[in-house]
Amino acid sequence: MNLIMKMLAVPATVLALWAVSAQAATNDEIAKRLEPVGKVCVQGKECKGMEVAASAGGGDAKTPDSVIAKHCNACHGTGLLGAPKVGDAAAWGERAKKEGGLDGLLAKAISGVNAMPPKGTCADCSDADLKGAIQKMSGLK
Ligand code: HEC
Repeated sequence: MNLIMKMLAVPATVLALWAVSAQAATNDEIAKRLEPVGKVCVQGKECKGMEVAASAGGGDAKTPDSVIAKHCNACHGTGLLGAPKVGDAAAWGERAKKEGGLDGLLAKAISGVNAMPPKGTCADCSDADLKGAIQKMSGLK
């Protein structure tokens, strides 16, 4: 290889490496890396950095954990205003019985009921996003 070729080859290699590492940082990757943060929040403990975790993935990277951490946990984490608590299977089970199962609860979550705001404040959540969050909070299948 002559000198000119060598001089051209080096920057090309650097550029290729840069492109590979830049590509690794897709939304999916970021969401995966931040998932543990969402899990910590679900357990009702401190939620430092949860806004970052919930927004970094963008609109279509919602998981039950990220929806709960960002929108539901504020009330359902502690039972604020009489909200059924995350993981309180008995309380959720009773409500499910009254509303005709998971889909009945989903309908109430969409419309809102008493102090429970419509869509639990997650205006851009799809029905499936909400359903996933309800399943995770209640343990219902
Ligand atoms: C501002 C507080 C608050 C937030 C935020 C909130 N909830 Fe609630 N939620 C409540 C309260 C209070 C109740 C109990 C309402 C009642 O029965 O009077 C409730 C009840 C529910 C119920 C049971 C409804 C029924 O018919 O028994 C579901 C399902 C539910 N919430 C889902 C969610 C989901 C999913 C989210 C997040 C996307 C969420 N909530 C966010 C306060 C909240």
